[in-house]
Amino acid sequence: MKLTDEEFLRIVGYIKNNYGIDLSKKRLLIEGRLNFTVTDNGYSCYNDYLDDIFKESSGAAYNHFISKLTTNHTYFMRESAHFDFLVNTVLPEIESTVKDRDVRIWSAGCSFGNEPYNLAMCIDEYFGERKAKWDLKILATDISSKALLSAKNGVFKAEDLNDIPKHWLTKYFIKLPDNQYKICDTIRKEVVFKYFNLMDEFSHKKPFDLILCRNVMIYFDTPTRETLIKKFYDATKQGGYFFIGHAESITKNTGFKVIKPAIYKK
Ligand SMILES: C[S@@+](CC[C@H](N)C(=O)[O-])C[C@H]1O[C@@H](n2cnc3c(N)ncnc32)[C@H](O)[C@@H]1O
Repeated sequence: MKLTDEEFLRIVGYIKNNYGIDLSKKRLLIEGRLNFTVTDNGYSCYNDYLDDIFKESSGAAYNHFISKLTTNHTYFMRESAHFDFLVNTVLPEIESTVKDRDVRIWSAGCSFGNEPYNLAMCIDEYFGERKAKWDLKILATDISSKALLSAKNGVFKAEDLNDIPKHWLTKYFIKLPDNQYKICDTIRKEVVFKYFNLMDEFSHKKPFDLILCRNVMIYFDTPTRETLIKKFYDATKQGGYFFIGHAESITKNTGFKVIKPAIYKK
């Protein structure tokens, strides 16, 4: 079913105003992703569908709509330079400077959980038995309820794990039937998954030692990105780090110091 101009602008405006995502050049993507949902549910036009789902913005149909319009592509060891830097620089710095041994990391826009689980595995490898003396928590947030549900479940296909170090397969995963692997409990309990819209005010109690917002801001326009980076800056601990995707950039004068491509320090 084709979108009318009015329906297209309605969706683009709604998603931009509420979630920051710019879909103004994505007409075919919107049609492709919503077409079946709209027709399968018996609607004869997108407007009637939108009228219904907007009536209950916490309902399952609304969540499905948001999940459909987000792009959740992710994989383990993505932009692995970040994980090398974490292990070689960030964690040794944390170990020598964080006296209360209370460490907060945020994976903002975590999708299916590959990124925060990957962080938890690197941290576990780095600290080994010393980890027992640390309170290390990874907050992982997204707006896609579908991605969050899958992330909490922590089950991945064998082919998703091709790029991780081979010994992690037995160290951090439990083999299931059908060539699937489940994240082990030790790693699972280090990550707290939550719904959080980055357009909302941040009200986290403690500043973060490290924030990752990788491959999320590419979907936002420049003013939205700048406002968000300011919020990330305020939420980062003095001396803490901020990682973005290597295809992304942040403007000068954010307060962050550039350390390496896609790595910033407060
Ligand atoms: C392409 S994925 C990136 C996943 C991971 N960070 C990585 O680099 O592999 C982008 C994620 O950002 C999420 N996202 C988009 N807009 C958001 C918003 N306003 N608040 C929170 N998450 C958002 C999407 O739902 C999607 O899961």
